[in-house]
Amino acid sequence: MYQYPVYSPQLGEEEKRNVLDCLETNWISSKGKYVELFEKNFSIFTDIAHSNAVANGTVAIHLALAAIGIGPGDEVIVPSFTYVASVNGIRYVGATPVFADCSRADWQMGVEEVRRCITPKTKAVMAVHLYGSCTDMAALAKFCKEKNLLLIEDCAEAFGTYDHGRHAGGFGDISTFSFYGNKTITTGEGGMVCTQSESIDSVLRHLKNQGVSKTKQYWHDVVGFNFRMTNICAAIGVAQLDRAQQIIQVKKEINQMYEERLRHKLEFLPCGKGIESAHWMVTALAQSEEKRNALRAFLDSKKIETRPSFYPVHLMPMYEQKLDLPVTMDIAFRGINLPSSPTLTENDVNVICNAVIEFYG
Ligand SMILES: Cc1ncc(COP(=O)(O)O)c(C=O)c1O
Repeated sequence: MYQYPVYSPQLGEEEKRNVLDCLETNWISSKGKYVELFEKNFSIFTDIAHSNAVANGTVAIHLALAAIGIGPGDEVIVPSFTYVASVNGIRYVGATPVFADCSRADWQMGVEEVRRCITPKTKAVMAVHLYGSCTDMAALAKFCKEKNLLLIEDCAEAFGTYDHGRHAGGFGDISTFSFYGNKTITTGEGGMVCTQSESIDSVLRHLKNQGVSKTKQYWHDVVGFNFRMTNICAAIGVAQLDRAQQIIQVKKEINQMYEERLRHKLEFLPCGKGIESAHWMVTALAQSEEKRNALRAFLDSKKIETRPSFYPVHLMPMYEQKLDLPVTMDIAFRGINLPSSPTLTENDVNVICNAVIEFYG
């Protein structure tokens, strides 16, 4: 058992009350008032016109790609430095992931990294807003428009992140979120697919609900999915949205405390101009992979849980390729995530920082 887990969600009375309401009213499946309310409130929070609640962030990506017509023969440009679910979604719809490097300036895949990967088969670009930051999304959206490419935003880690005042997920054709237990707001398991387009929203709703006809019960006119979120999960989500501003504020303060005390020991994830990160996970680089591993082992011995940053997906057996992605290869092996729960106190962060300082001597 860790004294300082890398993440634990902040749950309270409203979450309990809402879940109890689901149980007491018998609305425990995917019908019930909370799903609609969560979707409505999510759209208000993010200022993205349409939100569709789904079972998790992985199916959100699968559904998003299916809804915008990505399929066999299409290439989708995606950073190798991401969580594997971003890439698996591309494979699920039969398309081909094309791995891009990330920028040294902000560790995200930007226009220049995308440009190098374009081929005549490129159909879409998937930006992944890693660890709560994001690239210059206005520039990437403009570039994709010029090249006639669809733009998907994987915002699993970017709830509460803004680029020049606009919430992540509002730039692309479609965007996805995750509400896994370690995300900035959580529903236990859960996800959201968002779009500004009414026509894409209508395809999303149709596909996520088994492709059932709008006019004839138990008649299905496409091969759809059951990707629906339950009312219980949505009930938690409604309560989490009510406390979202406070969670985000605390997470920003936690990140700032770490940076202030440890910036001479570790290199923290740098944010681009105009990017307001929600700092989902406090992310930093050690001097080498060996140093990172030794630091993790030292913190582990002090009951402080950490995570290694994501390994490059293009090295994993399902996607293995020889590619020249120098920034990814450098960053991915030196990265460490420090405890980032909104439940951490100032004293907790100080204890963790003291341990890091002790390690460096
Ligand atoms: C970048 C990214 N994409 C997708 C996912 C998948 O979300 P989930 O775990 O809810 O399926 C995650 C989360 O774990 C993630 O970090």
